[in-house]
Amino acid sequence: MRFLHGFLAILPVSSSFQLPFKVPFFNSSQQPLRPAVASKPRIAIIGAGAGGTSAAFWIAKAQERFGIDVEVDLYEKESYIGGRSTTVYPYENTSLPATELGASIFVKANKNLWRAVDEFNLTRRDFRDEKGLGIWDGEKLLFTTSGGWWSWWDSAKALFRYGFQSPRRTQTFVSEMISQFLTLYSAETPKWDNITHLSSSLGWSELVSQSTSEYLKAEGVSNQFISELVEASTRVNYGQNADEIHALEGACSLAPTGASAVEGGNFQIFEQFLKHSRANVYINTSVNSISPAASGQWSLDSDRGSETYRAIILAAPWHSTNIELPVSVRISPQPYVHLHVTLFTTTLPSIPPQSFSLPASTKIPPMLLTTFEGARNGGPEPEFNSISYHGLIRDGEWVVKIFSKARISDKWLSKMFDGEIGWVHRKEWDAYPVLPPTSSFPDVTLAHGLYYVNSFEPFISTMETETLSSRNVVDTLLKEFFQSGICGPDAITDKDSEDYVYGWDC
Ligand SMILES: Cc1cc2nc3c(=O)[nH]c(=O)nc-3n(C[C@H](O)[C@H](O)[C@H](O)COP(=O)(O)OP(=O)(O)OC[C@H]3O[C@@H](n4cnc5c(N)ncnc54)[C@H](O)[C@@H]3O)c2cc1C
Ligand SMILES: *[C@@H]1O[C@H](CO)[C@@H](O)[C@H](O)[C@H]1NC(C)=O
Ligand SMILES: *[C@@H]1O[C@H](CO)[C@@H](O)[C@H](O)[C@H]1NC(C)=O
Ligand SMILES: *[C@@H]1O[C@H](CO)[C@@H](O)[C@H](O)[C@H]1NC(C)=O
Ligand SMILES: *[C@@H]1O[C@H](CO)[C@@H](O)[C@H](O)[C@H]1NC(C)=O
Ligand SMILES: *[C@@H]1O[C@H](CO)[C@@H](O)[C@H](O)[C@H]1NC(C)=O
Repeated sequence: MRFLHGFLAILPVSSSFQLPFKVPFFNSSQQPLRPAVASKPRIAIIGAGAGGTSAAFWIAKAQERFGIDVEVDLYEKESYIGGRSTTVYPYENTSLPATELGASIFVKANKNLWRAVDEFNLTRRDFRDEKGLGIWDGEKLLFTTSGGWWSWWDSAKALFRYGFQSPRRTQTFVSEMISQFLTLYSAETPKWDNITHLSSSLGWSELVSQSTSEYLKAEGVSNQFISELVEASTRVNYGQNADEIHALEGACSLAPTGASAVEGGNFQIFEQFLKHSRANVYINTSVNSISPAASGQWSLDSDRGSETYRAIILAAPWHSTNIELPVSVRISPQPYVHLHVTLFTTTLPSIPPQSFSLPASTKIPPMLLTTFEGARNGGPEPEFNSISYHGLIRDGEWVVKIFSKARISDKWLSKMFDGEIGWVHRKEWDAYPVLPPTSSFPDVTLAHGLYYVNSFEPFISTMETETLSSRNVVDTLLKEFFQSGICGPDAITDKDSEDYVYGWDC
């Protein structure tokens, strides 16, 4: 992370909320609302996270290709672009490296994000900040390796502890999932209006209807491997135990081999999506209600007043939006994992073993993950889901991130880190859906002209899959209203090339 320092120093940013480019923001106070022009169809997007910003981008792609004449307004209640992908600076000092507060990593199989980083000239970096991983059960350090998280598969220690079969079978499970996932980028990608059907067409019905533990046990993976390495992954990535989370999301937790991030913050991808769209972007603007308007259109009421749209794309988890919908529109309750993120700096290069009542000779690895297995067997539950070192912010001072279910107190931090705590920043997120095995998913089309990007989240919740869901929604919407998807009636060009990505290359 050290070289980040220099890179950031040359960026003209003074806070993570300031945008480094000019988007056509309308000053809420000065710009009058334009009256709806009957001849020019208008589309509203709600939310400027991965889902909403990519929706604006996909529409722009169709505008570019077919000259579709449409006006797009994007509403975002917060003052920044990125939603659950955003950064903060240690000590609020922009000369120090930006640190992710929400979504941190993506992988090469995430073709939309990967491609966006290349097209937008952003810089990708390896997420492998610090080497060494351990699994804590609340009382004991069960497993440690000196390699990075993403290299544990091959470590001799893993082989010794778990044998050959369990890691290998798990790896097969993950790579089969990924190869199916990649079909979503082909020219023949399925289009879906029903995620249950999508799931079965991808051959994933079994995965989503069973817990990760159940599924892997049936595949002959050992209990110990599941409760240690697998559960450590589901807990760090989704704050859920392996016997609670469905096996598709379990597989996604295990997938991050070659994890990458955008230097300076992943949110830049989403800013670029907007920059490369023609959407009018209204930040600091909450949408309050959506109701039917004349001639099959929708009326959207926001802090800016009331506007009429041909179609609306909802790109935020509805239950957290406070948006009133017509009673005829139903979205089943969807609980989210309430996650506490505690970012802080310390002058200690690692957690002192005494903090865990471990012998002084123990070296606590920089990425400490957890299992619920100790608690299942009557022991104490770990106070955190994960603690990870994310590199130096300057000589002798590291930035560390804790994910936990409950608030991490100053007192606890101080006790664990011998009082060597500098800056502390806390954030609570409704981070991702609670993901129990299921066979039913929210509707993609909530009503004619009303689409729900976050219907995908209870299936898979990541930045990338939100861009896939928005692509599908935009495809559906354009077909419905403009008789042309993102790629037009006969999508072509090099579709057999290995680099082909549906939506980008057609
Ligand atoms: C701590 C944490 C770690 C994570 N780690 C990863 C990771 O490593 N990799 C990964 O891929 N994913 C990760 N995720 C998940 C990832 O962040 C999400 O899946 C993804 O960012 C969701 O994008 P979205 O656009 O659907 O929703 P959001 O990013 O939540 O965007 C929705 C937007 O809508 C806005 N909004 C809400 N209500 C209104 C309203 N009434 N009016 C106007 N605007 C409104 C919100 O302010 C928000 O900006 C993580 C999430 C968290 C919290
Ligand atoms: C608001 O309007 C003023 C004056 O027209 C302009 O200088 C400023 O950049 C605008 N702000 C935004 C966020 O567009
Ligand atoms: C949005 O709100 C933030 C915080 O209140 C403020 O700093 C910023 O100037 C506002 N931006 C616009 C474009 O209104
Ligand atoms: C910000 O960090 C830089 C680099 O460590 C340091 O030189 C500078 O003094 C800091 N600024 C403030 C306001 O603390
Ligand atoms: C990215 O860089 C290439 C080569 O320097 C340039 O041709 C292209 O226009 C740049 N793209 C953007 C979005 O800045
Ligand atoms: C999706 O398909 C499932 C299974 O066929 C069905 O039960 C459900 O009602 C469908 N949902 C929608 C919105 O059509």
